[in-house]
Amino acid sequence: MKKDIYTLGIESSCDETSVSVVKNGREVLSNVIHSQIDIHKQFGGVVPEIASRNHVEAISTVTKEALEIAGITFSEIDAICPTYGPGLVGALLVGVAYAKALAYALDKPLVGVNHIEGHIAANYITHPKLQPPFLCLVVSGGHTHLVYIKDYTEFEILARTRDDAIGEAFDKVARVIGLQYPGGPKIDKLAKEGEANINLPHTYFENSLDFSFSGIKTAILNLYHKNPEVNKADLCASFEKTVVDMLLTNTKKALQELHIKKLAIAGGVSANPYIREGFLKMGQEEKIEVFYPELKLCTDNAAMIASAGYYHFIKGNASDLSLNAVPNLKI
Ligand code: KG4
Ligand code: ZN
Repeated sequence: MKKDIYTLGIESSCDETSVSVVKNGREVLSNVIHSQIDIHKQFGGVVPEIASRNHVEAISTVTKEALEIAGITFSEIDAICPTYGPGLVGALLVGVAYAKALAYALDKPLVGVNHIEGHIAANYITHPKLQPPFLCLVVSGGHTHLVYIKDYTEFEILARTRDDAIGEAFDKVARVIGLQYPGGPKIDKLAKEGEANINLPHTYFENSLDFSFSGIKTAILNLYHKNPEVNKADLCASFEKTVVDMLLTNTKKALQELHIKKLAIAGGVSANPYIREGFLKMGQEEKIEVFYPELKLCTDNAAMIASAGYYHFIKGNASDLSLNAVPNLKI
């Protein structure tokens, strides 16, 4: 009988300290998330030095809790899988250094995981039958990518943002109109009370599926400064509608060009109900199967890292103790 494989995921790339035990890449035995949002909220965004310090304080306790909930000991773990990029360098270093110390002391394999691959893998947990190849739209606070998933560890980037990430645009627009960090969920809530009746610019590029969100962000800032009395709910609804239009247009083109009928969405912004509905509708119209992670796996968590780590581990892609944090790591 095939032996079960248990991976320990460690995520500390931004403002969540998270540790998780996942069985065979798909079954979450524990996924403890210690969020620092309340700490960073008062500063209007993540303060890197404060994030690192909080990771240092939380990481041992979070790991202990993750093992306890999973009902497993260190000796039963097959591979230790920290996020090593992209992200804030000091924050990443906490998880990487901790994982290296564990791997050395326990004499276990170390598998460095790319955070974006983790977001994609969140879909494997929610959809146990999902297998590559498929197209994935990654929409998070730091990234907006269209990725062709050829195999579990083989990726091709088809498009990326040329300026702001979509989550960054949500957060910046929110800040300008007086909503607290993180702005995405606040815009989402307010948009439900408004109507998408304000014209905002769409940005597309010739011969490229790349994205750009700085134009719409600047348009909203100008509009708001000229007319602070504008209906904020309508502004949020119009912003959501315009960004979803841009995402849908380019994603549809990529699906058609590649003749792919399977699309996954991943990353924190994929928690947005308007985006989820928009893509599900497009899926029905175009006969495309659309997959999302369950809500709690959309934003940063270590279960998705443990899942991505599993697929590298079974491929033999282990790291050595020279593994370092790579803040601008690409996939
Ligand atoms: O994936 P994530 O947790 O972190 C990164 O890897 O960047 O994404 C965080 C981003 C933030 O910009 C946050 O505002 C956004 O996801 N977000 C949302 C929603 N929930 C989180 N954006 C729009 N609607 C939401 N419901
Ligand atoms: Zn993330």
